[in-house]
Amino acid sequence: MAAARFPNLTILDHPLIQHKLTLLRGKGKSTRDFKQLVNEIAMLMAYEVTKDLPTEEVPIETPLERTTGRQVAGKKLALVPILRAGLGMVEGITQLIPSARVGHIGLYRDHESLQPVSYYFKVPLGGEARDFIVLDPMLATGGSASAAITKLKEAGARRLRLLSLVAAPEGVERMLEDHPDVPVFVAALDRELNDSGYILPGLGDAGDRLFGTR
Ligand code: PRP
Ligand code: URA
Repeated sequence: MAAARFPNLTILDHPLIQHKLTLLRGKGKSTRDFKQLVNEIAMLMAYEVTKDLPTEEVPIETPLERTTGRQVAGKKLALVPILRAGLGMVEGITQLIPSARVGHIGLYRDHESLQPVSYYFKVPLGGEARDFIVLDPMLATGGSASAAITKLKEAGARRLRLLSLVAAPEGVERMLEDHPDVPVFVAALDRELNDSGYILPGLGDAGDRLFGTR
């Protein structure tokens, strides 16, 4: 059903991802456990999100003979967390892809208007030839992710994907309207947004839960 409505969306429903997401939603989680679960889920999701990266043949010498193998081709992948909460996903993914470059986009959502306010932008160069994975645990109205991707495109990025843990239908719709060329990967598509722009059932304020700020 979601696939028909949102051709840009892939829901990663691997049992381990779903199990850990359910634990993450629980309101009693400590900051430490919340952070660890976010990293673990991000790592599992990254495996799927990168499954169509281009590879190339390379020669390799085993202890017994020369042969060929395959390696990921092209420029090093770039992870681009949206500050702050996206930072919580970086460590897990870099355990899987240690050579990944990391850019940072600083955006926060104004509590009244829900509009994204930009405060920092620093990403690896080589835009057109590099794959970028934008990281943000929450895709709510979609304003922050859309603004981050617009900035990356302005800087030359062309091969982009968005990786979020939980999305609201409104956020996926916004991505489809603003950036139909960018695939969106999530662990769950939740029901709706409340009047304050929080995802229901969601998992609360991801930044505050990750960094223990509330
Ligand atoms: C949260 C979240 C996303 C954004 C999603 O960030 O981490 O970046 O809201 O909402 P949207 O889809 O409606 O834009 P927040 O502004 O709370 O900043 P933080 O990560 O610094 O806590
Ligand atoms: N940002 C969050 O951290 N949580 C939500 O539910 C929506 C936006």
